[in-house]
Amino acid sequence: MPELSIVTTSERPDLQRSAVDRLRGSWPLFILKDPVSKTHRAAVREYFPHLDLLLVEDGEVVANAAGVALRWDGGVSTLPGGYDGAMVAAVREHESSVRPDTLCVMAATVVPHRTGSGLAGAILTGLRDRAAEAGLERVVVPVRPTLKASYPLTSTTDFMGWSRADGLHLDPWIRTHQRLGATILAPAPRSMTVTGTVAEWETWTGMAFPQTGRYVVPGGLDLVEIDRERDLGTYSEDNVWMRHR
Ligand SMILES: CC(C)(COP(=O)(O)OP(=O)(O)OC[C@H]1O[C@@H](n2cnc3c(N)ncnc32)[C@H](O)[C@@H]1OP(=O)(O)O)[C@@H](O)C(=O)NCCC(=O)NCCS
Repeated sequence: MPELSIVTTSERPDLQRSAVDRLRGSWPLFILKDPVSKTHRAAVREYFPHLDLLLVEDGEVVANAAGVALRWDGGVSTLPGGYDGAMVAAVREHESSVRPDTLCVMAATVVPHRTGSGLAGAILTGLRDRAAEAGLERVVVPVRPTLKASYPLTSTTDFMGWSRADGLHLDPWIRTHQRLGATILAPAPRSMTVTGTVAEWETWTGMAFPQTGRYVVPGGLDLVEIDRERDLGTYSEDNVWMRHR
């Protein structure tokens, strides 16, 4: 049996560099260009080190999960503005000494050769436990449904309703959360927005964008809008709010 342990990146800074390198490759490159993540990353690391976890298997990092703490009254209408909005709210509230009561799970990644074996569930459970220890009563997630990348023309509202015969969702990442007791709350429109020049988008996606228009890109849940006249590419993806018990 492999030996599994969960640590925070601040407890094991020696593991952090190799973890980042190993896990970054699991994401479409453009997702890592989110300007809100870039401008808030340092503050998130400083304010929420107890919510930045690594799953270590026989000495090697195999997964990470990270969240932020914020205040939320449990109402659907008062959910933060998606991934970007949650990050901005958590940092602003921390700096204003607002007492948080909710964990917002921001990301989870499993190294490619270990996916499909329940490691995401293990580290999400670890994150929920740490949040409970920190006094956070509620858990929400702006879930990035991985299968939606195969259906970029479908509305998020329609996609949210796609269930299998067993009642679980068609999307594997939503299923992982459902197995942990989470339910779908609402769409998270324009959860994350990424902009760049046309050349940047061509580098990030490995595609050419010869004319102005909307394009399907690998790993994109929604379309990228390319405006050659303004030398601008804009991508805004919807996510799905889920709440854990
Ligand atoms: C999404 C992710 C975290 C899931 O981690 P995981 O440990 O594989 O999750 P699970 O073991 O719970 O598997 C969940 C489901 O996905 C399926 N699955 C896992 N990896 C898969 C793959 N590479 N291809 C197809 N299906 C896969 C599993 O079979 C399981 O399906 P089931 O419900 O029929 O059993 C992982 O695939 C990942 O790191 N992806 C890249 C980053 C990302 O998109 N993160 C989510 C957004 S924050």
